[in-house]
Amino acid sequence: MKKNNSYLKKYRNLKVLVTGSTGFKGAWLSFWLHSLGSKVIGIGLRPEKGSILFKELNLNKKIKQYYINIQNFNKTNLIIKKEKPDIIFHLAAQSIVSTSYKKPLETFGTNVIGSTNILESVRVNGIPNLVFITSDKCYLNLGKKKSFKENDTLGGLDNYSSSKASAELVFASYFQSYFKNRKKLVIASTRAGNVIGGGDFKQNRIIPDVIKSLNSKKKIVLRNPNATRPWQHVLEPLSGYLSLGQKLMDQKLNSHIQPNWNFGPYEKNCKKVIYMTKLFMNEWNDKGSKIVIKKSNNFHESKLLSLNINKARKELDWKPKLNLEETVHFTISWYKNYFLGNEAEEITNSQIEYFVSK
Ligand SMILES: NC(=O)c1ccc[n+]([C@@H]2O[C@H](COP(=O)([O-])OP(=O)(O)OC[C@H]3O[C@@H](n4cnc5c(N)ncnc54)[C@H](O)[C@@H]3O)[C@@H](O)[C@H]2O)c1
Repeated sequence: MKKNNSYLKKYRNLKVLVTGSTGFKGAWLSFWLHSLGSKVIGIGLRPEKGSILFKELNLNKKIKQYYINIQNFNKTNLIIKKEKPDIIFHLAAQSIVSTSYKKPLETFGTNVIGSTNILESVRVNGIPNLVFITSDKCYLNLGKKKSFKENDTLGGLDNYSSSKASAELVFASYFQSYFKNRKKLVIASTRAGNVIGGGDFKQNRIIPDVIKSLNSKKKIVLRNPNATRPWQHVLEPLSGYLSLGQKLMDQKLNSHIQPNWNFGPYEKNCKKVIYMTKLFMNEWNDKGSKIVIKKSNNFHESKLLSLNINKARKELDWKPKLNLEETVHFTISWYKNYFLGNEAEEITNSQIEYFVSK
C-alpha cells in the first residue's frame, strides 16, 4: 500500500488548538500532535469521572490546557484571541445520544451554541484555519439502506443527531456568509463513524461498556444489537482531520469545493452491534460472558448508518488503513496492555507509530 504521511510534517512547530482535548478523540489527537512537534492548546471541561486518557497520557504536562465551557463566548473568545493558533480542531461536544435525551439543553447548548461560539471566534480573530468536527449522525436517517454522501439532507430524529445537524447548518451559514469568497478553502466540516480505540471509558458507549464488562467478568448488556454502525479506529478519522488541516493550511483546496468530508470506514466495516460484540469477546479470549439484550428504550436511535468516503479519497487522497479485525485487535490490545500495568503513553505511542508506518 502506498504510504502518504507527508501531511504530518506540517504540524511541526505549529500552534494548534484542540477543543475537547480532555475527551476520547481529543486526547488522542492532542497526544499525536504533541508527538509531531506541535505546541498544543487544549480547551475542554475537566475529565469526567472514570475518564482516564487525559491524565494517563500526561497531557497536563504536554499541552497548555484551559478548563472552560465553550457555551461562554467571552471566555472562549478570550483564549482564542490570546493564543491566536494557526489552526483549530473543534471536537468539544456532548457526544452521547442517550444523554441528549436526559440533558437536551446541555446538548444543544454545547453542540450548537458552543460550536457557533467557536466559528464566531475564528471569524472575529482572523484565525486562519478551522476543522469543525460533527458526526455521521448529522444526516437525516430514515432507515433506508444506503450510505450517506456529503451533500445528503441533514437532520436528526434525536437530540444528539439534531444538534450535530444544527451545528452543520450553522457551519454552512458561516461558510456562505464569511468564508466562501476566498480563493481557497480555509474552514471545513467533517463527519466520522463510530470511533473505537484504547482508553475510552465513556459511559453509555457500546464498546467501552463491552470492555468494562469483559474486564470485570460481568454480563454484557446491549440496547440495540441489530443496529448497524460504521466502526473505525480512532486514528483513522484523526488522520483524516490532520490531512484535511494540512491541505487547508497549504491552500490546496479551491473554494468551489464543498467544505464537508466524510471520514468513515470501508463499507465492510459497517457491522451490527451484536457482530462487533462477538468479535470483541473472541479477541478478548472470553468464553463465558453472557449477553443480555435490554428491552428497547423509548428513545429513537438510528438502525443503519454508513458513510460514503469517495470524496475524501478523491480530493484528499485519504483512505482507511485498518481492516475490521485490525481495528478490533488494536483496541483490545490497548486495553489489555493497560490493564496489565503498561504505560498508556507507551501503548498509544507504539500504536500511532504502527499506524503511520502502515
Ligand atoms: N466517539 C465517536 O464515536 C464519535 C463519532 C462521531 C462523531 N464524534 C464527535 O467527535 C467529537 C469528539 O468525540 P469524543 O468521542 O472524543 O467525545 P467525548 O465525550 O469523549 O469528549 C468530549 C469533549 O468535549 C468536551 N466538552 C463537552 N462539553 C463541553 C463544553 N460545554 N465546553 C467545553 N468542552 C466541552 C469534554 O470536556 C471532552 O473534552 C465530538 O464532537 C463527537 O460528537 C464522536
